[in-house]
Amino acid sequence: MYKARIIGTGSYLPEKILTNSDLEKMVDTNDEWIITRTGIRQRRIAADNQATSDLALEASKKALITAGLKPEEIELLVVATITPDMPFPSTACVLQAKLGAKNAVCFDLNAACTGFIYGLSCVKQYLQMGTYKTALVVAAETLSSVTDWQDRNTCILFGDGAGAAVLRREETQRGLMEIYLNSDGNYQGLLNMPAGGSRIPATENSVKERLHFLKMKGNEVFKIAIQSMIKAANEVVSRNNLKWEDVKFIIPHQANTRIINAVAKRVGVSMERVFLNIHKYGNMSAATTAVGLDEVIREKDIKEGDLLMLVAFGAGFTSGACLIRW
Ligand code: COA
Repeated sequence: MYKARIIGTGSYLPEKILTNSDLEKMVDTNDEWIITRTGIRQRRIAADNQATSDLALEASKKALITAGLKPEEIELLVVATITPDMPFPSTACVLQAKLGAKNAVCFDLNAACTGFIYGLSCVKQYLQMGTYKTALVVAAETLSSVTDWQDRNTCILFGDGAGAAVLRREETQRGLMEIYLNSDGNYQGLLNMPAGGSRIPATENSVKERLHFLKMKGNEVFKIAIQSMIKAANEVVSRNNLKWEDVKFIIPHQANTRIINAVAKRVGVSMERVFLNIHKYGNMSAATTAVGLDEVIREKDIKEGDLLMLVAFGAGFTSGACLIRW
């Protein structure tokens, strides 16, 4: 049986750090509120000359080095993002040119914070079917470009970054195992960016009304995020007749430490096996689980055959979980 195996990962975080005390000077907030309500201490912000494809490029180069592959060997390139360089062409095509991945078929995918898991699921099908042998999935976001820096309800939460994974079709027991995905468009109003698409194209008014920024009803999103992540995580465990003890590390989407704690408690996993980097980076949407996977692989004692789980939730709403045998 062919599997899509991750043979290299990489991540990139922009240099600029925005701390909670920096935010105190911008909106009516304070370090203690942000830490206790969210767990975030700082986040990274892209430089003025950095767009999403630039962050994606750095993460991709690192993933290719780890995989020991040249850009020309990539046959499929998927970028998961809600902050593309521009509406079109796709950021994947922009990245293709920068990277020199001239033999790749390229497209973007929008599943918000669940984007990396949706990207992996997509590539898994192509590789297992034999359509392509080698793929690159990149999750990259420049959320600072759609953050309303006057809105304390949202601006404290988000950061920029990128993570990448190179996958190859192999006859092995290792690789992407079960992936569970879910979508529910009925909740689109709770988390979105209203303008800039065909519904509300850019006008003087749309700018004045601040409609080109991310809007969120945080409190309502919070509850559904917990339920959805519990459901997704439990699905992949039970479908494989596994016990929670079998999973070595869980890499959850990092929107709020309280969400992660609640999910871990409900599924009965101790926080020692749950990876956290929210204090350093905040919520980087699709990039969060991709960066998390790269950091777990580099920093934790992950051995061949260990089981890892990615689990996420995001705008759409979307949710999903992915079980990986390393
Ligand atoms: N600093 C200080 N006070 C703030 C604040 C800030 N940055 N942001 C909000 N507040 C205030 C509110 O105005 C409110 O004041 P009020 O009671 O006088 O009206 C109070 O804090 C509580 O606000 P509330 O929205 O109920 O807080 P919360 O505990 O729900 O935390 C979030 C807010 C956004 C951190 C939380 O709801 C959250 O994390 N939601 C989900 C986020 C998420 O998952 N997003 C993306 C999915 S990928």
